[in-house]
Amino acid sequence: MAISVENGVFHLETANTLYQMKVDPFGVLIHLWYGPKTDYTMDYLLDYPDVGFSGNIHEAGGRRSYSLDTLPVEYPAGGGSEGDFRVPAVSAAYTDGSGVLSLRFREYSIQKGKYAIPGLPAVYAGEEEAETLEITLLDAASKTEVHLLYGVLFQKDIITRSVFVKNCGDAPVVLQRAHSLCLNLPYGDWEWMHFYGRHAMERQAERTALVHGIQESSSSRGGSSHQQNPSVLLCEKGCTETSGFCIGAALVYSGGFQTQIELDQLDQARLVMGINPHTFCWTLGPGESFHAPEAILCCSNQGMGELSRCFHRVIRENLCRGRYQLSKRPILINNWEATYFDFDEKKIERIARQASQLGIDMMVLDDGWFGKRDSDTSGLGDWVVNENKLRGGLDRLIEKINGMGMKFGIWLEPECVSEDSDLYRAHPEWVIRVPNRNPVRSRSQLVLDLSNQEVIQYLYHAVGKILRDHHIEYVKWDMNRSICDWYSAALPAERQREMPHRYVLGLYSLLERLTGEFPHILFEGCCGGGGRFDAGMLYYFPQIWCSDNTDAHDRTLIQYGTSFFYPISAVGSHVSAVPNHQTGRVTSLKTRAAVAMAGSFGYELDLNKLTEEEKEEVSQQVQAYKGYQGLIHSGRYYRLSNPRKDPMAAWAFVSENQREALVQGVLFQAAANTLPRRIRLQGIDPEGSYRVKQDGRVYTGRALLCGGLILPRQEGDDTSFTFYLEQISSCEK
Ligand code: GLA
Repeated sequence: MAISVENGVFHLETANTLYQMKVDPFGVLIHLWYGPKTDYTMDYLLDYPDVGFSGNIHEAGGRRSYSLDTLPVEYPAGGGSEGDFRVPAVSAAYTDGSGVLSLRFREYSIQKGKYAIPGLPAVYAGEEEAETLEITLLDAASKTEVHLLYGVLFQKDIITRSVFVKNCGDAPVVLQRAHSLCLNLPYGDWEWMHFYGRHAMERQAERTALVHGIQESSSSRGGSSHQQNPSVLLCEKGCTETSGFCIGAALVYSGGFQTQIELDQLDQARLVMGINPHTFCWTLGPGESFHAPEAILCCSNQGMGELSRCFHRVIRENLCRGRYQLSKRPILINNWEATYFDFDEKKIERIARQASQLGIDMMVLDDGWFGKRDSDTSGLGDWVVNENKLRGGLDRLIEKINGMGMKFGIWLEPECVSEDSDLYRAHPEWVIRVPNRNPVRSRSQLVLDLSNQEVIQYLYHAVGKILRDHHIEYVKWDMNRSICDWYSAALPAERQREMPHRYVLGLYSLLERLTGEFPHILFEGCCGGGGRFDAGMLYYFPQIWCSDNTDAHDRTLIQYGTSFFYPISAVGSHVSAVPNHQTGRVTSLKTRAAVAMAGSFGYELDLNKLTEEEKEEVSQQVQAYKGYQGLIHSGRYYRLSNPRKDPMAAWAFVSENQREALVQGVLFQAAANTLPRRIRLQGIDPEGSYRVKQDGRVYTGRALLCGGLILPRQEGDDTSFTFYLEQISSCEK
């Protein structure tokens, strides 16, 4: 049994970890432990100091040492509730203007299998794989119930969390915050890692010590954003890739989010994570419930690498869905950086023909094929082929491309609209816009109100028609701006602050319908590159375009940050032209391919402009990726360096059975008169022997783990290396 209850103590066990809580004599649910298994009830760690200015709940009578302000309350309430002055998990307000929630234990239940969340993406697991614990807390005065959900995936070392709040009273309750997760860490010297960035430079890993007070990483942009990511690590000081304790949390949500960590007056840390309360409020009528999104939790006593591999596994095997979840992805050629808006059917055919000759599987037609779309100032929303550009229409082009032995994929941006479009002229009331105010434009476009069911219906029909009428096998679903100035013409005044979450619910319902109806289509998410790279999106799209920055050097940093939580198969990555269009940097074709191979691989340039030697190289890269893709996507991923500090980026994929490994990387800056660099491997069998394909040399696993591989001497900046290692049997040695 993964979940057991003894003397009011809840034990949630996975293969290597333990999560514990208990109901105390006042009915308060107290967090006891999240960490390695201890075979012990950890309540001896609780302390009850009498701290000045920390109040005492009424039931505690004269016990001045019992304060919710110092205890690790499992799901703390805010808004001035009961004297816990730290970051709260939930806040509410009632019709009389008060906002106290006195949450006390009411009941629990344990079920086989994993709970689901209505309308929201969530980890799924079979009855043998998971158990669910539901704990009900009640605020007796308002009759508000808080249901805490815990999903325990035993083998995967994963605990999922979600919450729903139910109004069992007879007056409305206004929820101001309903976080998915709260985790108290009374002891430890913690550092936190979050992933900041900007358009074309997403998910830069930053690790710093906690300071007293609140540290926050959040988005109020309507999407999870380029600027911060809904994932966080807490590492004990000294924790490395291969040793030490760390905890990770990822929110399965694609809208505005908030991660807060408070280090309090007693040096205790508390982490909360959920929908961003700055752009959230939800009115619960009598009998109604609100479901918070899910957070995925994992901890590791063997460093950050192990933690990442657990996240990769659960996201790939229990969150991603559909035909392409675990199967091989087609290698694609995308015309965006090859042509931008300047193309016709002849140009596309030429690119496709060249790609097919080099072994590429699929042609993706990017932005500009529809409506009056010759630049990013018009046409968005008019999902009808522009026959001036593509003479003969889509079907003719698709037939030609299919005739070359290639699949055909297409770009769509259904959530946005240009003012210069037939859709906007017909339905100006469908955009997000405050009455009597002018809307903010971004990339010259406005956003459709996906909280409006009419809009969702329209988009379902418009997108469904394209996918039904043409032989399309891939969709790049883009979204190219942040959302601000929220207002929905379809919502009453008192529900306007529900809109950001309703937008996400609308989007999810649309994606659920479309991905369900077109299971043969590979959907790739995109948001100006990686502006919505989150676990929520991965429930619908098994891969996401990682960044609009295709520069191989920068990509190593972006992919490094992305790898802490998200599986390699989720990372869309392409080889593009040099000088790179975003940075002007020139890197070799070899380096560009080595970096792009750490993902779902493709090309994004006009292959006709390559020399014959380069074409030959591309054809070899395509064959190499086809050979390695199984290992890259299903193998275990190891970060072998920290490219934000080290002079190189290096990573490896090792098969589950440790028989093969692919080691790749980029050496950044060349220098004169140095020893060659070396890289220590991880994850291979210390008892085994391995032959390196590139030079035939044989090493023991232990030598490679301790002494490492010597890397080729650098000639120029940003040179790459690739080693494929195969274990050999003892008689071959
Ligand atoms: C976004 C995407 C790009 C490309 C353009 C097209 O920026 O991230 O890959 O599709 O839109 O307008």
